[in-house]
Amino acid sequence: MTDPLGRLHPVVRLAPAKLNLSLAVLGRRRDGFHDLHSVMVPLDLADRLSLAAAPDDGTGDTLHVTGHDPGPAADNLVLRAVGEARRAVGGGWPGGPGAAPALAIRLDKRIPVAAGLGGGSSDAAAALDGALEAWAAVLDAARRGAIAARLGSDVPFFLAGGAALVRGRGERVEPLAGVRGSPGVLLVTPSSALPTADVFAAFAARGGHGDGSVRMTSEHLAAELQAGLSATDLVTRAGVLAAANDLLPASAAVMPGLVPFRRALFRVLGRPVGLSGSGPTLWTLYPSRDDAAVAAEAVQAALTGEELPALGDGRPSILVSSIPEGPRR
Ligand code: C5P
Repeated sequence: MTDPLGRLHPVVRLAPAKLNLSLAVLGRRRDGFHDLHSVMVPLDLADRLSLAAAPDDGTGDTLHVTGHDPGPAADNLVLRAVGEARRAVGGGWPGGPGAAPALAIRLDKRIPVAAGLGGGSSDAAAALDGALEAWAAVLDAARRGAIAARLGSDVPFFLAGGAALVRGRGERVEPLAGVRGSPGVLLVTPSSALPTADVFAAFAARGGHGDGSVRMTSEHLAAELQAGLSATDLVTRAGVLAAANDLLPASAAVMPGLVPFRRALFRVLGRPVGLSGSGPTLWTLYPSRDDAAVAAEAVQAALTGEELPALGDGRPSILVSSIPEGPRR
């Protein structure tokens, strides 16, 4: 928001991680992307983004990152999102007719990077929305959606906010009522990144279409989440959902240690273990966050006792989270 003198007020946004409760890959498209059918929910694990007026407009937008290292700032989707937003706004903001002013952006990264949790895409959606608010600029939903889709396949989901059925390449987002109650989620992320493009390339090399049963599970789950599913009912479906990811064989082909690691995690936790997105983050569902916290301790103990095979070049990250109660924000 700008004040009457044209100064920008700082904007703070939480950029949540996501979990794919189901992920069916329907086939390869002419543009090289894949058509998806995925039920996605936001998590209460989030990056924190703040945007304020840059002290010197001449230096352009700046990005300062703390927490997990997402790689060079110049490659960060946050700066691309703000640049695209500025181009789309043109002189159409309250301080116009000149271009909207440069922003100093701070990003505290709490979501593991290149982990199948959508952190980079969520940051981009938060930056697009946050920059528009900082400039008090208005873009209609269609133009915001078009920018989001250009930035990345998961960005439209985050821009919409809330549980959703995601189709097409990711640009078709249908809000769902979501989960009643707040099921706990344990996230175990091996220390090696798994680039989405590598996983889809391996998927295409293996034939380029998924198992029809995953699509059926995904359609069924979408209908249930539209009606509103309780946390308990979601947890009872964990076994089916843990198998409802068409990318699993391709992710395992790119990161061969993932299969034994997942099997060992299943032995430690005694619960179905799913893969989020293209991975490598593995999840288990619990009735509550407290239950997930108890499970996290069991995984820590298993790591110390070397009951889990080594994967990557460090200890996996173990995070306790939950799926916030629907309906969508
Ligand atoms: O859109 P995004 O940059 O997140 O996608 C990363 C890569 O994943 C793409 O370059 C593409 O290879 C693959 N992808 C795909 N089909 C999708 C989403 C991503 O093939 N629906």
